[in-house]
Amino acid sequence: MSNEKIKKAYNELAESYNRLIEHKPHNAYYDRPNTLNLLKEVKNKSVLDAACGPGKYAEILLSKNAQVTGFDFSSEMIKFAKQRNKNQGTFFVHDLCEPLTMIEDKSFDFVLCALALHYLEDWDLTIKEFHRVLKNNGQLIISIEHPFFEYNYYKSTEYFKTEAVNCVWSGFGNPIEINSHRRPLHDCIAPLTENGFYIDKLVEPKPLKEFEELDQKHYKELNEFPAFMCIRAVKK
Ligand SMILES: C[S@@+](CC[C@H](N)C(=O)[O-])C[C@H]1O[C@@H](n2cnc3c(N)ncnc32)[C@H](O)[C@@H]1O
Repeated sequence: MSNEKIKKAYNELAESYNRLIEHKPHNAYYDRPNTLNLLKEVKNKSVLDAACGPGKYAEILLSKNAQVTGFDFSSEMIKFAKQRNKNQGTFFVHDLCEPLTMIEDKSFDFVLCALALHYLEDWDLTIKEFHRVLKNNGQLIISIEHPFFEYNYYKSTEYFKTEAVNCVWSGFGNPIEINSHRRPLHDCIAPLTENGFYIDKLVEPKPLKEFEELDQKHYKELNEFPAFMCIRAVKK
């Protein structure tokens, strides 16, 4: 079951998220460049952007002549994704926790899921669906919060457990509670390798230089310890 609290939070955040996403350091100069580095040669290829938010990834991929389909469970995010991408791409409201019944088997060359899987308690159905809709040898590219970062950040004492955690974000206007699930490294990898993928590449990213100009403190921290992890998994 999806988390109604996080859906409500993202509906509330959507306007400022869409406005700030262009240069928000953790997105623009940390997550996006490192994740997009794993998503090469998309020209004339089909990409499913799962949990697409306001469609910034989709915009970049469309500019590289990819065919993009995006979904998100926040209807507000989907409104901005459509606005941002005008008549290009296809965007619809859908929950990662539900089967992608509207998509046929082996439809996509790539599935991208950036900074969203940590909101789910259980990845199993979602990863199985990503596998089903990918063509043979298709690639799943994900970025998530790094499990070691989360373990420290949430001051966990039970590494091996998947636990509900929450924090307050202040970078998008009014402070807002964000609920997610922290899990051990094994539980980030096993859902992929046990559902028909092999891990082709795992990146512990470093921020780009542009990050430093906007946020020196986090630039220094991210050069000392990763906050995110990017993975490319290939359908066997
Ligand atoms: C941090 S944002 C990332 C958005 C986009 N992928 C990006 O990187 O620009 C997380 C997104 O995940 C979406 N999300 C969270 N849980 C979801 C779920 N169960 N189903 C679909 N979307 C979900 C949120 O609505 C939000 O748009």
